[in-house]
Formats: sequence, C-alpha cells, structure tokens
Amino acid sequence: MLAFGISVARTASRACVAHTSSSFVSPAAATQRTLIVGLLGRRRVRRPTTRMVVEEQEEVDPGVVAGTDLRVLRYPHPKLRAENAEVVKEEFGDDLKRTAREMLKVMYASKGVGLAAPQVGINKRLMVFNPDGDSKAWLQEVIMVNPSIIGRSKASEVEMEACLSFPGMGGNVRRHDWVKVEAYRLNGKKFKVKYEGWQARVFQHEFDHLDGIMYIDRLDTEEDRTRVRPVLDKLIAEYRKDPFEDREAAL
Ligand code: CO
Repeated sequence: MLAFGISVARTASRACVAHTSSSFVSPAAATQRTLIVGLLGRRRVRRPTTRMVVEEQEEVDPGVVAGTDLRVLRYPHPKLRAENAEVVKEEFGDDLKRTAREMLKVMYASKGVGLAAPQVGINKRLMVFNPDGDSKAWLQEVIMVNPSIIGRSKASEVEMEACLSFPGMGGNVRRHDWVKVEAYRLNGKKFKVKYEGWQARVFQHEFDHLDGIMYIDRLDTEEDRTRVRPVLDKLIAEYRKDPFEDREAAL
C-alpha cells in the first residue's frame, strides 16, 4: 500500500497554495526508498539496467517556502503542458531576477536539482538548476532564459529520473550524452555552454518542461510505464479534488 499523506492548506491569498507531504514511500516497494536521481537528489547512481535503484535521496514537499509564494505544481496541472513564451527584452529586469531567485529557493527546499518556470505556474522559458542540489555550492547554480539546444551527441544513455511535479515515482529516461546550449543570462547577455553527463541530463529534463514535455513522455520501457501508472492515477485523482486552478502566475 502506498503510504503517501497529503494535506492541502489554502490560505486567504489566492496565489498561496501549499501542499505538504507528511510521508513518502516509493511506489515500487515500501522497503525501497525512491531513487530521486533525475531532478531531485544530488547523488546519482550509474545504472546500466532498467531495474529500480534504491536511492537515499527523496524529494521533499516543503509546503510554504520562506521568501516566496511560488509552489510546485503537480501533474496533471495544465500549466505543465501549456506553451511557454520567450522572455522578451522588456521583461529582463528585477522581477525576472526575483523570480529566478525564488525558483532556486523552492528547488532547494524541495531537495531538487532543477526547476522550470512552468512548474511554478509561470509559462515562460526560464529554468534554474544546480547539478549539486546544494545551496552552499552556489557556484554551480545556473539560471537560463530562453535556452535553445544548438548541438547534441548521437550517443545517449538511460538513467533513472524523477521530477518535483511527480512525487512518489521515478523512471528510466534516455538522454543525449552531451548537449550544446545557447541561452541568455538574467542580464540579457547571450552565452553558450556544453553540458555532459549528469549536467546534460538535468538540463535536458528542465528544457523539456519548457516545451511542455515531461519525463513520463519519455519513459524508456513498457515496464516503467506500467509501474508508474497507479501513481499517475493517484495524482490525477488528487488534482481533481483540488485542481489549484486559482493559482496566479507570478510573472
Ligand atoms: Co521535472
């Protein structure tokens, strides 16, 4: 039985919706803690097979995070599938900076290693990540505006991922070994960078969010698709009970 306690507190503020997950057990087995490699957890496990891997790290639903009203939207919130607009010239400025900083706060509080703007209800092409997942390793923080992939390896690799918008599950996803990326910094300056391995995986996962694609769309095996189905059904049922439709975009 999946032990997965959720309580939802709604404050007077329309924009302020909090979820708290009081317990968390992997859907695979109560004895296995969820592998949160993908966009959660800073410890990665190299895994050549498609079997579930036990990982110590698991995502945390932090509820209300100090210093921000942003909350992580869960599947199947429609904003996760909505189109994400390019950030236009006039939008570069203090508000964009504040939003990016707040996204990092939410990401760290959730023990994630990446977060895309649509996941906090902002349908813009903005993403943040820190492959270390450690706020003390702030030099690893990346904030990207309007990223695009300008090159990618033919070679690819399958590894387990998870996502803050899909608590309680994970799955194997094939990603390019490396990608070359062009993006804008918060100051509007364009830059290019090449990511490999884990960083490339984190980037590709977040980049997908900007195209409304989620890792469940890319699960590598039928076994994985079957395994996550009951968790997805549960998330859908929870969403129907409380669809968070009154959330306001922060940007
Ligand atoms: Co994600």
